[in-house]
Amino acid sequence: MVWEEFERPGAIRAFRVILPEELQGEHWFDAQPVAGGTLVRHTIDGEAVGEYEAIWRDRIEPAHDRILEAVLDNIEAAEATAPAGQAAVTLTEDMRRVVLEQKLGFVATVCPDGTPNLSPKGTTTVWDDTHLLFADIRSPNTVRNLRDNPSIEVNVVDPIVRKGYRFKGRAELHTGGEVYEHGLRLLAGRGFDARRERIKTIVRIRVEQAVPLVSPAYDGGASENEVAARWEAHAETLAKRRHTAR
Ligand SMILES: Cc1cc2nc3c(=O)[nH]c(=O)nc-3n(C[C@H](O)[C@H](O)[C@H](O)COP(=O)(O)O)c2cc1C
Repeated sequence: MVWEEFERPGAIRAFRVILPEELQGEHWFDAQPVAGGTLVRHTIDGEAVGEYEAIWRDRIEPAHDRILEAVLDNIEAAEATAPAGQAAVTLTEDMRRVVLEQKLGFVATVCPDGTPNLSPKGTTTVWDDTHLLFADIRSPNTVRNLRDNPSIEVNVVDPIVRKGYRFKGRAELHTGGEVYEHGLRLLAGRGFDARRERIKTIVRIRVEQAVPLVSPAYDGGASENEVAARWEAHAETLAKRRHTAR
């Protein structure tokens, strides 16, 4: 039997049969991040005809299964004994202050086709020293993406002071149970409308990287008060415009 390796989009390694002609097939491995680990999958897609129908069924397929099971078992064992993923970082007092004050985070996730998905969450708040959370009220794409790939980034910025933080980590989805209930209580305690029928999922984020964001408005040496005064004036102008439009 003659094989060749080929490029298959989304696959880690992919192979196909060149000869014999009675055995046409491709097989490939793909890996995708899922909650709590990585899903490694092996797929065979092909057809055996003529005498190769019996050869495949009686000889190749059973051996294939045994070898691949052993390979996948080895990967699983290696993964189980590997050091845990990235460590959580401890949120500083200032990080917690900004999140608690602003309540609004811009949440980025990864779509199945690799493109970004970014949307605002006005229920963004602090869970504890290493976790944030937000409520999924109407966030179908974010939640769908997180189900397949828990990677997430949240930016929380004070738009007046023009400073904030970007948090990167992994998200867990809770639609019931202890974490969901605690999430509802936390949100209600902070003045959010946390009715159970409104909140489909509590998205809890384990923060693995937290980096400050500072506007280039400070590059020329402006003080925080000067920058804030400028954006307060801007906010007042917009407020006046809204009031006159009513
Ligand atoms: C300021 C603002 C705050 C929002 N806060 C939330 C929120 O906390 N939870 C939520 O599920 N949707 C919230 N939304 C609505 C979602 O961002 C919106 O439905 C979005 O289209 C969801 O996209 P997604 O499926 O990509 O997450 C908010 C929208 C705005 C404009």
